[in-house]
Amino acid sequence: LANGVARTPPMGWNSWNHFFCNIDERTVKATADALVSTGLAALGYKYVNIDDCWAERDRDWKGNLRAKSSTFPSGIKALADYVHARGLKLGIYSDSGYTTCSKTMPGSLGHEDQDARTFAEWGVDYLKYDNCYHDGSKPQQRGEEDPARWAGRFGNAWRTTGDIKDNWDSITLIADSNNVWGRFAGPGRWNDPDMLEVGNGGMSLEEYQSHFSIWAVMKAPLLIGCDIRAVRRETLHILGNKELIEINQDPLGVQARKIRSRSGLEVWAGPLSKKRLVVVLWNRSGSSAPISVGWREIGLSPFSKVIVRDVWTHSFVSKGTRFRLTAHVAPHACKVYVFTPL
Ligand code: GLA
Repeated sequence: LANGVARTPPMGWNSWNHFFCNIDERTVKATADALVSTGLAALGYKYVNIDDCWAERDRDWKGNLRAKSSTFPSGIKALADYVHARGLKLGIYSDSGYTTCSKTMPGSLGHEDQDARTFAEWGVDYLKYDNCYHDGSKPQQRGEEDPARWAGRFGNAWRTTGDIKDNWDSITLIADSNNVWGRFAGPGRWNDPDMLEVGNGGMSLEEYQSHFSIWAVMKAPLLIGCDIRAVRRETLHILGNKELIEINQDPLGVQARKIRSRSGLEVWAGPLSKKRLVVVLWNRSGSSAPISVGWREIGLSPFSKVIVRDVWTHSFVSKGTRFRLTAHVAPHACKVYVFTPL
């Protein structure tokens, strides 16, 4: 959507993947503080997004949504003021149906304008709009099928898959489903393979690195889904990879795609601004293996001179970078390179 926002994929945090319905204003405020104190906010993680379960079960007598008094006693406006004072932005959640997916609060069906006005009055900057318990209206009006084909007229990002889970099978399946829609992504309109699970404990560090790398190069919204108040150093190391964030936020905005897959050894690649390329060598097999990519496969002439940088080791690759690049990749790990023409 050409509304001036999300020219690069949105970055921030969302409450759902870690807290589910156990969310309250104290946690949201402490998370905003932690985004700042960890340095994540300075790296671009600006949105503090409240997901489902923030409102009372019933609307007030005028039909307005109201924050749940047991968990958000100060109200959403106060929360927006709090995060704005820290240079951050506030996101909220609603649904196109009778209730949201949790069934604990009303959806916006029949109250679309009213709720939009409420959110605007509260100073909300971002809306995640779900699609549970709708009234059966056509997908083009209330999206279901293949949102990549039409949702860019109405929103800045759309989910392409079911809900992510904190495990390897889920992220590989989602990566493949999201990959199909690559050509529909661009500045202001992004495929959303769901929020990050990095730091939630269900995967190894290699798997979390792969998850973050592939999400970054697919130009996914980077919405952290762990508890930032208690974030570990190794999690910050992944979420805070500045070079990968720059790839995700590259102004060209082209989604990298899978260009080869053999026995779980994969090559993903895509263009970046300034005639650069990003190339990922991803080992989805269960054992360590060499993965190799030839210049021609990624659209370079065999004689092109390039410098190749490994964005996980933060160093330039010096050997074996003529015509072809080969790396030994640990099981479930990946290598991410930026190719810059000389
Ligand atoms: C759906 C969405 C999730 C989350 C929950 C909340 O399942 O896909 O991301 O918002 O609803 O109930």
